[in-house]
Amino acid sequence: MSIVFEQETKTFWLDGKGMTYTFFINPFGYAEHLYFGKTIPHESLMHTRAYGGLSKGIHPNPAIEGQRIWSYNYMKSELSFYGTGDYREPAVLVENAAGDRLSDLLYVGHEILSAKPSISGMPSMDGGETLVLHLKDSHTDFGADLYYTVYDDCDVIARRVVYHNGAKTPATLRRAYSFSLSLPGNDYEVTSLWGSWAHERFMQKTHVHHGVVSIDSKNTSSSATLNPFIAVSDMGTTETNGQVWGVNLVYSSSYVLKAQGDSGGHTLLMGGINDFDFYWTLDGGESFETPEVVIAYSAEGFGGMSRAFHDAYRNHLINPRYVKSPRPLLLNNWEGTSFNFDLEKLKAIVDAVEGTGIDTFVLDDGWFGTSRDDSHASLGDWHIVNERKLPGGLKPLVDYVHSKGMKMGLWFEPECLNEDSEVFRAHPDYIIGVPGRIHGIGRDSFMMDLTRKEVRDYIVDTVNKVIRDNKLDYVKWDFNRNVTESFSLGRDPKDQSRFAHLYALGLYDLCERIIEANPQVFFEGCSAGGGRFDPAMLHYFSQIWTSDNSDAEARTMIQYGTSMCYPLSSMSCHVSASPNHQTYRVSTMKTRADIAHLGATGYELDSTVFTDEDREEVRAQIIEYKECDESLVLEGDLYRIENPFEGNFFGFELVAKDKKKATLTMYRRINICNDYAKRIRLQGLDPDLRYYIPELDLTCSGALLMTVGIVVKIRGADFLTLKYHIDAIEE
Ligand code: GLA
Repeated sequence: MSIVFEQETKTFWLDGKGMTYTFFINPFGYAEHLYFGKTIPHESLMHTRAYGGLSKGIHPNPAIEGQRIWSYNYMKSELSFYGTGDYREPAVLVENAAGDRLSDLLYVGHEILSAKPSISGMPSMDGGETLVLHLKDSHTDFGADLYYTVYDDCDVIARRVVYHNGAKTPATLRRAYSFSLSLPGNDYEVTSLWGSWAHERFMQKTHVHHGVVSIDSKNTSSSATLNPFIAVSDMGTTETNGQVWGVNLVYSSSYVLKAQGDSGGHTLLMGGINDFDFYWTLDGGESFETPEVVIAYSAEGFGGMSRAFHDAYRNHLINPRYVKSPRPLLLNNWEGTSFNFDLEKLKAIVDAVEGTGIDTFVLDDGWFGTSRDDSHASLGDWHIVNERKLPGGLKPLVDYVHSKGMKMGLWFEPECLNEDSEVFRAHPDYIIGVPGRIHGIGRDSFMMDLTRKEVRDYIVDTVNKVIRDNKLDYVKWDFNRNVTESFSLGRDPKDQSRFAHLYALGLYDLCERIIEANPQVFFEGCSAGGGRFDPAMLHYFSQIWTSDNSDAEARTMIQYGTSMCYPLSSMSCHVSASPNHQTYRVSTMKTRADIAHLGATGYELDSTVFTDEDREEVRAQIIEYKECDESLVLEGDLYRIENPFEGNFFGFELVAKDKKKATLTMYRRINICNDYAKRIRLQGLDPDLRYYIPELDLTCSGALLMTVGIVVKIRGADFLTLKYHIDAIEE
């Protein structure tokens, strides 16, 4: 990893593990992009520059000889800007005090930092050598500092911008994206992850075209609708071949990501905070920090891109306290009991898993307030325990769970409240909404206005008190709706278009003051399942409940899509009851466990109905998880072998970093007669090592397993799995 500035050619070379990013300061003074791809030698790339626009093109500085053959449209500036002739999508739009909306960002200097500075109030990747490129408008004192960070252990570049108003008069940002990036040519596919509740992160593909491919969220949440991720890839890229540039925003509120095929023969990627309902006025001397974007590069198809993201997030983003250590192996009561439980029922649920290896009990929704028997009441009343269900408060249950040598977890939804609650009666002004208008209700609740400090203080005090008074070990932090009527009573009416970003900052402040302030507690994220699954949330929550849909068949697709950029260890995957709670599908306990073992596993059912055989099966599954899966889920490399969006099979292979151990989990959706012989070529093994696969009683080289493969024969009904253990042996 290195960042070098070549003085003579004014070229910046940013080299990561297996990639190079380079640009130079052109004769007009602009930072002009040259290349982002596989590692290349530091040789001149001047022959790759584009000309163009002799007639309609607008030319930079006429004082420079030969300028007429260059136009802004072709220039590929490191940050596309507006009003001076770059007709591509601008990454920044600033309204200056004089009323013009021009920016003309020229290079004025740079710094190379050995330690990456953090972003104030927002999570970001750590470590990595960092270039700060200072750009300034040719006419005003508006400037942009572009941050670039590269790493020696993963092929990603982290980028962001800090915009400054160095003038004495205000300037208003109407668009302030985190990056723009030019790729050569227009022949690309765009992959993104769409979804809805219980149906998160399904893959979709389209093409770059002349125009803009855009995905966004206007929900004040990164949302289940579209994840803040796009991958732009060579046409026909597969899991193993082709170039991919994957873009993932470290942000949890309304965002936008775009890919534009421009007439200059390039593809422009860009994005950041959604400018749809955004403006931000900077007084003289003020700055605005944008969220970070992580851009992964792979020359080895989508598989390489995902492994780059997984390494980046495990090594530099997710809380190091938990990221690589064994996770709580929990039992959650939600799908087992819903709101219908009492102390005796919960004790029985705990008793029923004694000796199985389950080490944590998580009590979900319904423990608080006076009348939380469904979602209509009591949300937000964390200071009251429902004595009807839990006489004597939480203590008898917590003590009971602890006396069994297990850890105790509890559900909260800190950002929401019911109208029928003590907290709303005491603080009706704490909610988000426009005075005089009807307040939208989602899952029977309103939302707390996290943009206001007094509201955050209230939440921090009440939630922290429950955590500390009860010596909790685990918290599940849920968030079951999206924002409507974005408006804060705490702000000036003309300042309301800051709301979505201020909500994100408020949420991160809450996470700092609850999660970071309770380092002994493990925090799991959730948003009606996986409705807010983004890198910023992963910084705080080492794992997130992937979906309220826990059906193995549905999960093959949800977990496949999620794995595009998020590591397996970030996905909470529970074995639940059959028929499934959401899909009513029937599947075997083995199928459910094999798919749930491809993540941070646990159980979510009523264990009191277990037979002795069920209990024994759970015990065996947990031994298998601990011995074979856990370390691969936490630290291994993922190879996606079969894509359930494209066929009847799903297959994930997990390989240890030292390549001495691997597992292959294959799943077949429907039994098609005479279609049981599926040839699979393994990936990621050491060709020179010999491996033993007990399920096939087969010993052979990694080379053979990867070139010739094995035959997977799933026999039996629909929805079955086969799992193979692949262990290096010494002969
Ligand atoms: C959401 C979560 C579930 C459960 C319920 C409780 O739907 O995703 O896991 O916690 O809320 O109300």
